[in-house]
Amino acid sequence: MKIALRDSSLLRTNLYIDGEWRVPKDGRRIPVYDPASGAWIAEIAHASERDIEDAIQAAYRSWQSWKNTLAKDRGKLLRQWGEAMLQHKEDLGMIITREQGKPLREAVGEIIYAAQYLLFYAEEAVRTYGDIIPTPFEGARLLVLKQPVGPVGIITPWNFPVAMFVRKAAAALAAGCTCVIKPDERTPLSAYAVMELAHRVGFPAGVINMLTGDPPQIGEMLASDARIRKISFTGSTATGRLLMQWAAKVPKPVTLELGGNAPFIVFDDADIPSAVEGLIASKFRNSGQTCICVNRVFVHRHIAADFKKALEAKLEALQIGPGVQNPDVGPLIDDKAFEKVEHLVDDAVQRGAELSCQLFEPHSRGLFYPPTIIAEVQPEMDIFRTEIFGPVISLIPFDDDAQVLHMANDTEYGLAAYFYTNNPRRIWTVTEALEYGMVGINTGRISTPHAPFGGIKASGFGREGSKYGIEEYLVTKYLNWSGL
Ligand code: SIN
Repeated sequence: MKIALRDSSLLRTNLYIDGEWRVPKDGRRIPVYDPASGAWIAEIAHASERDIEDAIQAAYRSWQSWKNTLAKDRGKLLRQWGEAMLQHKEDLGMIITREQGKPLREAVGEIIYAAQYLLFYAEEAVRTYGDIIPTPFEGARLLVLKQPVGPVGIITPWNFPVAMFVRKAAAALAAGCTCVIKPDERTPLSAYAVMELAHRVGFPAGVINMLTGDPPQIGEMLASDARIRKISFTGSTATGRLLMQWAAKVPKPVTLELGGNAPFIVFDDADIPSAVEGLIASKFRNSGQTCICVNRVFVHRHIAADFKKALEAKLEALQIGPGVQNPDVGPLIDDKAFEKVEHLVDDAVQRGAELSCQLFEPHSRGLFYPPTIIAEVQPEMDIFRTEIFGPVISLIPFDDDAQVLHMANDTEYGLAAYFYTNNPRRIWTVTEALEYGMVGINTGRISTPHAPFGGIKASGFGREGSKYGIEEYLVTKYLNWSGL
């Protein structure tokens, strides 16, 4: 294992099942690489079918007692887990940077972001209130109880290897559910390190289990097993559809946080420096590899030239390099991601878009794709319709509100949208017209555990964070208490 840490016992490479670290039953392992250098870092466990079965059974068995624990005691464990993450944030951030590539500052930021979900849901655990309904019947009382849905299968991606699983697990555990978690096999080490902290704070055996292995096998087993009562997934729309099909066999509820194609609209009354700042913050976070990253930048024709000039100046100042050097932009996750971004830029340029700024030659620096601006993008180009997941800004001019709203909504996705204007009337009309689950108004930063994160259309359904997030893990039971 090649990561220097203050606490090297955080580096775990085996499966976490029923309260203990286990080697996979058939001994198989998966290599993990550093995307900045291509170097091998570690080998992690590849779960066999029996391991997956053990994890499901452990989550099911432990749920029988976890659901009956006091909410305040569940909250206490969540708080301790969050505090342990904050104490180890430098080590955990370093692990993320080495396996995922993001700048160290952002990686430590991800740990703080994830820990905040635990601290938030530690408080929320005690607020899963039910209801009393005014009775329509003599001698009867109608009541509503909120109860945990049951063991949850949690499947999360490589772009936020800690925050995405923690925000699901925090809400699920607070509600009284147990979990089987599958992080992405490209970035498992930070998830296992955070799992080690959960072990240290003393969650009962079986309440949280973690596996890596063959994604379709684990996904299908979790989704189609009747002991797992809910699936929560963040990742591609294609995988989300598959999980829904498998879950339909039981059937069971799913929460899906899928792809995005975020518009960023700059109206002609906007403050240009502040819009440029918001765009850079959103677009280059995690080198452009977030589901809520700006994907299409619509700029009013009157200000398009000034906006592009200000943007180019900012782009040219960006530092690019390995995440451990704390640059602004790091590498992409793998070759496939690089080829996708390259195709989208080439396709746009071949179809008439203008390559207005590109910091260096693609392919000259391994998996580092150069921050790029392309202008005059049109709806028929692939880059208009596809989630870029890379450091590329595509500029599209517009002439009026109706035209830009039509283009902004002209996508199968509906996760995040952003716009900049100083006109209060327009703020309302545009907000109401945008077909998206989240809207940033005069800001490029929208993520926080205090607000509901999630999308509509092909971006999925269900919400994470805030009081809405815990509802995903609760079922509603109605009681008719008669004979009174
Ligand atoms: C994502 O990319 O799906 C998550 C981004 C966030 O939570 O801010």
